[in-house]
Amino acid sequence: MTILEVRNLSKVYPNGTQALKSVTFSVEKGEFLAVIGLSGSGKSTLLRCINRLIEPTSGTILFEGQDVTHIKGEELRRYRQKIGMIFQQFNLIGRYSVLHNVLMGSLGSIRTIDSLLGRFPASLRQLALQNLEIVGIADKAHVRADSLSGGQQQRVAIARALMQEPLMLLADEPVASLDPATSHSVMRYLGYINREIGTTIICNLHFLSLVREYATRVIALKEGEVVFEGAPTDITEEWFRHIYGDEAVEVEIQ
Ligand SMILES: Nc1ncnc2c1ncn2[C@@H]1O[C@H](COP(=O)(O)OP(=O)(O)OP(=O)(O)O)[C@@H](O)[C@H]1O
Ligand SMILES: [Mg+2]
Repeated sequence: MTILEVRNLSKVYPNGTQALKSVTFSVEKGEFLAVIGLSGSGKSTLLRCINRLIEPTSGTILFEGQDVTHIKGEELRRYRQKIGMIFQQFNLIGRYSVLHNVLMGSLGSIRTIDSLLGRFPASLRQLALQNLEIVGIADKAHVRADSLSGGQQQRVAIARALMQEPLMLLADEPVASLDPATSHSVMRYLGYINREIGTTIICNLHFLSLVREYATRVIALKEGEVVFEGAPTDITEEWFRHIYGDEAVEVEIQ
């Protein structure tokens, strides 16, 4: 079953940069899709168009069959609730506890004033703890978020995204600021969520070795166009050079 369909999606920024050129692909429920490509190839623009943080210039985005390309207001809010977002820079509130940060992911179901004061119903606290459990960090629930390592903070960000019980997770280079061992740990949790909870994942990644290990399918962007679509194992040396340029050398992340 198709969860997301992107058809002829183009994005021209106000300064004239064409970041996406007629991008077409679809994602099946339960897939772990990696998006690869050089810096500036349009990966972040693509994810931001999908969750409508930026307006596509033309083309269509269908989510579960619904055209979400131009929805607004309440409809857009409901759509966004189904999609979790994870960024390179975790975006936690450092002086809040880990648990409080995770609970912030349930905004929308509680009043802003209650969230600022840390007043959350017991049922949500329970869910937050469960989500911290999933990313293996429940023992840190009551420490300040800024006392955690980068990898731990990213796992908190994942737990926060899980609070919406998203159908799809969009991750924009979630391990780009982490060391190799920590990158694997974070990717393993994403893989677990994908397989065990069934959450569809679209993840921008730099390292091909991570793509090969965790993704079920991959698309490559080059100057805003899809130049490759297939299984991670289909990325031969030749494709690699086509995607990244002749000068590029593959770097392994162990
Ligand atoms: N807000 C913006 N205004 C104008 N141009 C932009 C804006 N954001 C991105 N771009 C341009 O659009 C193109 C695609 O950028 P994007 O950030 O989507 O690439 P990326 O693949 O995510 O790169 P990276 O790997 O460095 O994160 C680039 O040429 C970039 O300079
Ligand atoms: Mg980017």
